[in-house]
Amino acid sequence: MYTRMISAHRNLFAVCTVAVFCLASVSLSAPLACEDLTRPLDRLVPRHLEGRWALVAGSLSDPTQLEFFKRRDSSSVNFSNTSAASNILYTPSVHFGGKCHLQSFNVSLEGSILTFDVRDRVNLTVTFLNRSCKDCVLMRFDNESKELKRLFLFSRRREVEQREMEEFTAQAECLNMPPPVVMDPNKELCFEQSTSQSAPAPPETEQR
Ligand SMILES: *[C@@H]1O[C@H](CO)[C@@H](O)[C@H](O)[C@H]1NC(C)=O
Ligand SMILES: *[C@@H]1O[C@H](CO)[C@@H](O)[C@H](O)[C@H]1NC(C)=O
Ligand SMILES: *[C@@H]1O[C@H](CO)[C@@H](O)[C@H](O)[C@H]1NC(C)=O
Ligand SMILES: *[C@@H]1O[C@H](CO)[C@@H](O)[C@H](O)[C@H]1NC(C)=O
Ligand SMILES: *[C@@H]1O[C@H](CO)[C@@H](O)[C@H](O)[C@H]1NC(C)=O
Ligand SMILES: *[C@@H]1O[C@H](CO)[C@@H](O)[C@H](O)[C@H]1NC(C)=O
Repeated sequence: MYTRMISAHRNLFAVCTVAVFCLASVSLSAPLACEDLTRPLDRLVPRHLEGRWALVAGSLSDPTQLEFFKRRDSSSVNFSNTSAASNILYTPSVHFGGKCHLQSFNVSLEGSILTFDVRDRVNLTVTFLNRSCKDCVLMRFDNESKELKRLFLFSRRREVEQREMEEFTAQAECLNMPPPVVMDPNKELCFEQSTSQSAPAPPETEQR
């Protein structure tokens, strides 16, 4: 079990008993263990997802995918039609090589888990994980063998506070993922275009 603790504050009032336990004053934020940092989000309201989220940082387990990832200018996801959890339109887009690559998927949300329409043959499971910044969504992508491939932090903002990035780094570390790569907040996001104008998503830019 992980015993690594993350603490935003110095526990000035911490009362440490002999060797094992530290009781922090309730007014201070308690240190978070990995178990807490990697918990799926509960009470995710589909409507809360509506609209566009910019990719702020990503952690990828596959070195080849990571290389392609670093070459993108920007990424975002757009959730629409969120009134029914069973029929949400999910549109990831990647700005890469001067072009906008985007594709829409019909997805459904059950609890914190997003699943794709079987017809789309996207063999990924997406889970929304808990995060402290309220205008962020943290998505973990697992492949068919339930192995974690990517952790992406999206936000309504283009960049997050340092402590929020530190939390994401700690979350990635807890999940044995590499340190996150931070996106350049000054690079333009894709404009949503009609599908005919956009280049199809090349495999290396898949971010479903
Ligand atoms: C939007 O969701 C409704 C169900 O809530 C569904 O009937 C409709 O087909 C969806 N629209 C699109 C464009 O996916
Ligand atoms: C999503 O589902 C609707 C209704 O079934 C369908 O009309 C639409 O083409 C689907 N969109 C995608 C991107 O699969
Ligand atoms: C997903 O899995 C199905 C069945 O196992 C397979 O036929 C398909 O090629 C896979 N799709 C991708 C994108 O890997
Ligand atoms: C999610 O995180 C927030 C703040 O970090 C915490 O207050 C909340 O209890 C957590 N929820 C779950 C289900 O872990
Ligand atoms: C899932 O990812 C793991 C680790 O990268 C890999 O070994 C495994 O073959 C992948 N499974 C599928 C079905 O692609
Ligand atoms: C998100 O998708 C909806 C539905 O396709 C579209 O109307 C809206 O303009 C998109 N938003 C952005 C920021 O691309």
